[in-house]
Amino acid sequence: MKSFSFPLITLFSFLLGCNVLPFQKKENNQDMLLAALGILASASDWVWDLPPGFPIPTVPADNPMTKAKVELGRHLFYEKKLSGNGTMACSSCHFQSLAFADGKDFPSGITSQPHPRNAQHLSNVAYMPRLTWSNPKMSSLEIQARAPMFGETPVELGLQNNNFLNELASNSIYPPMFERAFGGSGITEQNVRFALASFQRSMISGNSRYDQYTFRNNKSALTASEIRGLNLFNGENAECFHCHGGFNFTDTSFHGGAKEEFFYHSNGIHDDAYYAGVPSNKRGLFDLTGVASDTGKFRAPSLRNIGVTYPYMHDGIFMCADANNPDKAAGAGKTKADCARDALTQVVDHYRSGGQAHSAKDATLIRAFAITNSERDDMVNFLLALTDEEFLTNPKFASPF
Ligand code: HEC
Ligand code: HEC
Repeated sequence: MKSFSFPLITLFSFLLGCNVLPFQKKENNQDMLLAALGILASASDWVWDLPPGFPIPTVPADNPMTKAKVELGRHLFYEKKLSGNGTMACSSCHFQSLAFADGKDFPSGITSQPHPRNAQHLSNVAYMPRLTWSNPKMSSLEIQARAPMFGETPVELGLQNNNFLNELASNSIYPPMFERAFGGSGITEQNVRFALASFQRSMISGNSRYDQYTFRNNKSALTASEIRGLNLFNGENAECFHCHGGFNFTDTSFHGGAKEEFFYHSNGIHDDAYYAGVPSNKRGLFDLTGVASDTGKFRAPSLRNIGVTYPYMHDGIFMCADANNPDKAAGAGKTKADCARDALTQVVDHYRSGGQAHSAKDATLIRAFAITNSERDDMVNFLLALTDEEFLTNPKFASPF
């Protein structure tokens, strides 16, 4: 277990600067001491409780982690006052039981306008230096929150022109929570985003059976089939690990402190003709850069908890029947696990066929490879072993309401 706390030296220099140490004069000491205690409360109380094998997440210097912010962020994440008509919250498209994905191909916001892309899971977003499927401008959780809050294409929470700050201020629970989290700066739009970001950074998931096998030395945690699947995943035949490598199963991550790496790839789920015909908000990185060779390129998603985050890909193209309606799927005799297995089998079949003829595809990594159906099933079994049940039910991430 690694832990990290705000350096006490900072508090010490603050106390020196404020003249509150005993050998200095006493005027205004009480105010300064209160301010210093405020800093102590807000800046030094967060302890990362990280799974083995996980580095300390990179946190922006202007938004250090504190317990008060994480707790406020948890309330705001589930708060329906954070939508233009009081009907939705972040949690309406990000369900804890699905690792904060939503089980649909395309979610809709308060105006029922469908989003052009699939809702992403939020396991370990703290380690992502770029967020969303393909927008390189989304470089922090603090920035990303603006999209669901104020975005108009599509409308998600629809908070533009809404007096949500007054709504929060008039609910008796929030003024003291903002005070504890942010001191005097109060209930502001920035503080809402900063608290949401802190809560999301706390969403660490690292106790799947794969983790128990790999990092906790429990050699019986994976079955023989899952171990064969793991080896195929990490082998030079299937090549998966090149884009989905490392502890978080993605090549987009922070490395060694603030150093970041991010990549966008085409994995050949559609061909060139498809991308020539789709609307301008469905062509991946190209939508942002306008560079033709960026068409169809997306960030390789983290495959953590992949067993509950179907349908798969930015447009949910790989799904089992009734995946848009997980309850119906279960009612029709399919469990959620069957659904995930169906959809993941389609995913691995896609890769082993080499995918569609797409000019941006990385032809050395996305090309047909020969594995038997039983090896394919091993790989699916391995992917299903990446589900961290503790994360899906941990009360720390659940609704406080
Ligand atoms: C209407 C459904 C909807 C709502 C409401 C919603 N999201 Fe999302 N979320 C999505 C979709 C869709 C994406 C993918 C966005 C894209 O690629 O453009 C996403 C992506 C994200 C990501 C990026 C994850 C990653 O792996 O990069 C984060 C973080 C996130 N949402 C947080 C939030 C927060 C915080 C809120 C509340 C303020 C919120 N979402 C509200 C649908 C929603
Ligand atoms: C060249 C990089 C690359 C390689 C190699 C690669 N992937 Fe992917 N993978 C991606 C990208 C990019 C996406 C998202 C594509 C999209 O949404 O359109 C993705 C998506 C996925 C998804 C869906 C994730 C989700 O949240 O919807 C799964 C599952 C997956 N890959 C598994 C695999 C497996 C298994 C292999 C090896 C057989 C593999 N990938 C090889 C880049 C790659």
